[in-house]
Amino acid sequence: MAKRILGIESSCDETAAAVVADGREILSSVIASQVGVHSKYGGVVPELASREHLRSIVPVVREALDRAGLSLRDLDAVGVTYGPGLVGSLLVGLTYGKVVANALDKPLIGVNHLEGHVRAVFLEAFQSDREPSLPAVCLIVSGGHTLLYEVRVSGPAVPLAAALLRYRKIGQTRDDAAGEAYDKVAKLLALGYPGGPIIDRLAAHVGEVTPGQKEVVDFPATKIKGNPYDFSFSGIKTAVLYYLRAHLELHPEIDERRQALSRGEGSADQLLPLCSAQTLGLLASFQRRVVAELVRRTLQAAEEVAAQSILVSGGVAANNELRSSFEREAERRSFRVFFPSRELSTDNAAMIAAAAYPKFLSSQFADWDLNAEPVLPLA
Ligand code: KG4
Ligand code: ZN
Repeated sequence: MAKRILGIESSCDETAAAVVADGREILSSVIASQVGVHSKYGGVVPELASREHLRSIVPVVREALDRAGLSLRDLDAVGVTYGPGLVGSLLVGLTYGKVVANALDKPLIGVNHLEGHVRAVFLEAFQSDREPSLPAVCLIVSGGHTLLYEVRVSGPAVPLAAALLRYRKIGQTRDDAAGEAYDKVAKLLALGYPGGPIIDRLAAHVGEVTPGQKEVVDFPATKIKGNPYDFSFSGIKTAVLYYLRAHLELHPEIDERRQALSRGEGSADQLLPLCSAQTLGLLASFQRRVVAELVRRTLQAAEEVAAQSILVSGGVAANNELRSSFEREAERRSFRVFFPSRELSTDNAAMIAAAAYPKFLSSQFADWDLNAEPVLPLA
């Protein structure tokens, strides 16, 4: 009989619950996003996040069970994120996971949120009956992380959904995460929060306003001393800031967009008419540089470890230019590249349930004193 695991995720600003069968079939996945709560602050406010998780956790878990057509008694285990993330947020999901597992007398499995992002890529591949071959390099790129790992099977060869994995960190950001750079640039330009999706959509319009014009700024490639697989995005963000300081002609449209945002008119369709060709060019230049940094270092790492697959996960993996650039470059060098769908790229609990499954099979259960670990590393 299929093993059904309830996954719970509350590490940042999404309260999520999901039921996954045998680590590969998503029976339900419910995500309550708090974007509306945090957007006016231009970032996640930890105290508000914990409060919202408290409000949502019970109905979200109930909804996940309802959609799966199951009751609590049908579950075999509870998998819950215990780090990394915001401590107050983590504690809500972790405590509720403990309560459910204890009441049912079923095992509790602690999951590293970052391993969840890796498993999200597999879950997506399973939906179309594909199975990424390992070793792989995985780029986890979100609002909180920019990390590059080597991923190998640890232990006997079993189907990927059931396999325990071994990770080695290859590189990481020295300063801002890539998604954070998107969010900060969006804030500078009054494009709302989160910044990634809107910049993604607006940058695609470059060249339409002034045909032929593509970019306005030539951001140089980032130079990093030491580990060639580390990233840095704060310099690119600062270059945008300096550009804006030097181009006062862009300030009136920034004010107009700020007013539009305060009227609740923040969609790409509403903001596009308030963006000059110069602004679109600036966004496209910024995005091109960020994408180039991510793709170049990941491919270099994949070559070095003789990876068979490249996995890209986390909120920024939804980015259209990142996807097309990875696909183009990976094909040229004969790597297979895998992304999660948009729903599985951002934080969700299906990936947590999937990550719990191999641990369930090998009886790696958590004790009741499992604590939230805000800086829990994956490797
Ligand atoms: O993984 P996620 O939902 O949450 C964590 O940060 O853990 O990622 C959210 C981040 C935000 O910084 C957001 O701006 C970025 O992912 N993001 C994108 C896109 N969609 C979301 N960045 C670039 N392009 C996108 N399409
Ligand atoms: Zn995440």
